[in-house]
Amino acid sequence: MPRSYDIAVVRGDGIGPEVCSAAVEVICAAAGRDRFSLSDYPAGAEHYLKSGTALPEETFEACKAAHAILHGAAGIPGVVYPDGTEAGIEFGLQLRFRLDLYANIRPIKLHPGVSSPLKDVEPKDIDYVILRENTEGLYASRGGGVNVRDEIATDTVVMTRKGVERIARKAFELARKRNGAPLDGKRRVTVCDKANVLRSYAFFRKICTEVAADYPDVELDFGYADAMMVHMVRRPSFYDVIVTENMFGDIISDLGAVTVGSMGMSPSAEIGDRQGFFQAAHGSAPDIAGLGIANPLGTILAGAMMLDWLGERHQDRALMEAAKQIDTAVQRVLSAGEKLPKDLGGQSGTRAVTDAVLRALDERRVAAA
Ligand code: IPM
Ligand code: MN
Repeated sequence: MPRSYDIAVVRGDGIGPEVCSAAVEVICAAAGRDRFSLSDYPAGAEHYLKSGTALPEETFEACKAAHAILHGAAGIPGVVYPDGTEAGIEFGLQLRFRLDLYANIRPIKLHPGVSSPLKDVEPKDIDYVILRENTEGLYASRGGGVNVRDEIATDTVVMTRKGVERIARKAFELARKRNGAPLDGKRRVTVCDKANVLRSYAFFRKICTEVAADYPDVELDFGYADAMMVHMVRRPSFYDVIVTENMFGDIISDLGAVTVGSMGMSPSAEIGDRQGFFQAAHGSAPDIAGLGIANPLGTILAGAMMLDWLGERHQDRALMEAAKQIDTAVQRVLSAGEKLPKDLGGQSGTRAVTDAVLRALDERRVAAA
């Protein structure tokens, strides 16, 4: 167990630096400043404008060597490559591919004190995880599609047996660690695809079904991606773990996030066999950058996921405990309802919300002493 963990911190663009600082403060307060050696590295759209690259090789090497990577957000609309795609997002995408961060874990949980835009749902009703395959699917074609004479353009869905098997296995393992769906307490993996239309998705479904045979204690369920958008709104309590292809995971996780209050609430852990990358699932929100009003809770909760992952990996109970404390502190702030960020209908800015989380952490420590 390392005495201190090397964390590569990439603050990024837009609201990235603000929400990232909040998460850094909170993890240091929860686990102890001396448990981390934090180093900042540049990446993203601003860096691209300055240097011509959105992911400098030194940043990549540092991320690879660190125990974990914490990210704010990346991308500025309009900062694009000659092919029209965004340059700033290269950082996260390349980390996924080059560090093989195949499992993108996105918890969707309605916290007490937060109201959902859905009718008649209570906090206990929404608690599931979207497990997004993060290295294959349609986005694996990034940079590899073709534009023929500006008449035809193609990108290709990529699926491999190895890639689908490992994400399917991860989904069932995750379900085993959880308590089942809120609706009926059943452990359930829902495979979200378009197996009715494309061979690649039929292959995804087939392999998930094969893997399911090793997990008879977990129910296997299927949903077409279009219909899933309806079910996630109509009966979110049915879901426990949803496993899906890269782009579908990107799309459905935004819907999931908004059903539990806001994009600002949604953390994301992107994990491979050796490395972990942690950030909120939202973008860089350039329209509110620098105003001090961004909701930092998604990134703070991602910080908690980082501590939990590091703790489990290095058998460090103190770090796992610190992760739990952050979760509890966030829950307390939300339940109290006095320091809610603007996207949740409150009046508090980034600083005030972060301070409220820090105070809630402190109170717990005093209570425990
Ligand atoms: C996400 C983001 C990224 C994605 C972007 C920034 C590349 O939207 O993590 O969901 O599309 O995967
Ligand atoms: Mn997204």
